Amino acid sequence: MPFADAKAKIALELNGEPVEVAFAPHKTLLEVLREDLGLTGTKHGCELGECGTCTVLLDGAPVLSCLVLGVACAGRRVKTVEGMAQGGRLHPLQEAFAELGAAQCGYCTPAFLLAAEALLAANPRPTRDNIKQALAGNLCRCTGYIKIYEAVELAAARLSGERAEPARETLYGRP
Ligand code: FES
Ligand code: FES
Repeated sequence: MPFADAKAKIALELNGEPVEVAFAPHKTLLEVLREDLGLTGTKHGCELGECGTCTVLLDGAPVLSCLVLGVACAGRRVKTVEGMAQGGRLHPLQEAFAELGAAQCGYCTPAFLLAAEALLAANPRPTRDNIKQALAGNLCRCTGYIKIYEAVELAAARLSGERAEPARETLYGRP
């Protein structure tokens, strides 16, 4: 096989399932997910590590998949937005984002959801400042960040067992 056609082949855990994938060895994790595994939920933004829209979880920690080589993921655990809903039910973060209108174009949303999931795994009841800090690497061009922060707070409350409902002004806007 000519060198230019040589492919890397790795095994990894992807959204809880073992998978094997072959790809051109120069590809980033972002490219492997979208082009070789058909998971287009992870979005392609700046490719420079600046916008955060390509965030996935690698062994539970948020990483910018445009800056991670696919070959570096051999034997690792990768989670994308496609792995968040379970048993036909949205993840509580997804529900809260949808309820509160925390997504407009939605381009940034998969990355925000995964960064927020990692935050809540480490800190189930984060303060607003904790949330701001955890999401500081994710840019949103449409929503404004307030609804995103409120959605993370609502999901955190529900995941902690509170029967939390969104505040009326959160749903309908502030007077
Ligand atoms: S695509 Fe912008 S940080 Fe990865
Ligand atoms: S909802 Fe459009 S970039 Fe965030």
